[in-house]
Amino acid sequence: MKIPSSSHIHMLSYLVVLLLLPLISFSADPDSLQDFCVADQSASSISVNGFPCKPASEVTSDDFFFDGLSKVGDTSNIFGSNVTGGNVLTFPALNTLGISMNRVDFAPGGVNPPHSHPRATESGVVIEGKLLVGFVTTGNMFVIPRGLVHSQKNVGVGKALVIAAFNSQLPGAVVLPFTLFASTPSIPDDVLTRAFQVEEKVVKSIKSKFSS
Ligand SMILES: *[C@@H]1O[C@H](CO)[C@@H](O)[C@H](O)[C@H]1NC(C)=O
Repeated sequence: MKIPSSSHIHMLSYLVVLLLLPLISFSADPDSLQDFCVADQSASSISVNGFPCKPASEVTSDDFFFDGLSKVGDTSNIFGSNVTGGNVLTFPALNTLGISMNRVDFAPGGVNPPHSHPRATESGVVIEGKLLVGFVTTGNMFVIPRGLVHSQKNVGVGKALVIAAFNSQLPGAVVLPFTLFASTPSIPDDVLTRAFQVEEKVVKSIKSKFSS
C-alpha cells in the first residue's frame, strides 16, 4: 500500500474539518415540526425537551398575544434594573418557535449585572436613555454572541429601556453575582479567594450582600 504523502494527509484532515464544520456550527433551538405547539405547562408529568403542546382544539388567538413587555418593571432593587421576560414561561405560544424577547428597565445608574445566556445570542435595541454595553449606545442596536458574559449600565441621567431579542424560546441566564456568591450549596470561600485573588473577608462580605 502506498503511504500518503504529508500534503495528502494535510488535505485529508482539511477535508475532514470541512465536513465536520456543519456539525459543530452554532445552532439555536431545533426547528419545529408543526405550525405551533402552545406550551401546556400544566402537563407537568410529561418531560420532554421543551414543553408538550396544548391540544390544537383548545388553542385560541389570544394564545398568540402577550402584553407583558408593555409594563414597566419595578427597578427599586439592589441593581436598579428589572428584566421582564417574554419567553416560553410567560408566553407559552413561543414553545418550539426558537425565539423570545425581554424588556429591561434601568433606573439612573442601574446595572444589569454580568450574566450570560447559555442557549441564545441576544440582540437588543436601546429604546430610551443611554446605556453602557461594552460600548456606549443611544438608540442603537447591540449584539451579544451566545454564551458570552455581558452586562449593561445606565450611564444617562434618566431612565433607560432596552428591548432584547433572543434566538431561543428560553435563553436562560447565568447571573454571575448570584451564581458565584449565592448558590446553594455555596461555592467554598477558599475556591473564590483563590479565583479572585482576594482575602476571605472580601468573599464573605460579597456573599453577605446576596444572602436573603
Ligand atoms: C420587576 O418588576 C415587576 C413588576 O413591577 C415586579 O413584580 C418584580 O418584583 C420586579 N423584579 C425585581 C427583581 O425587582
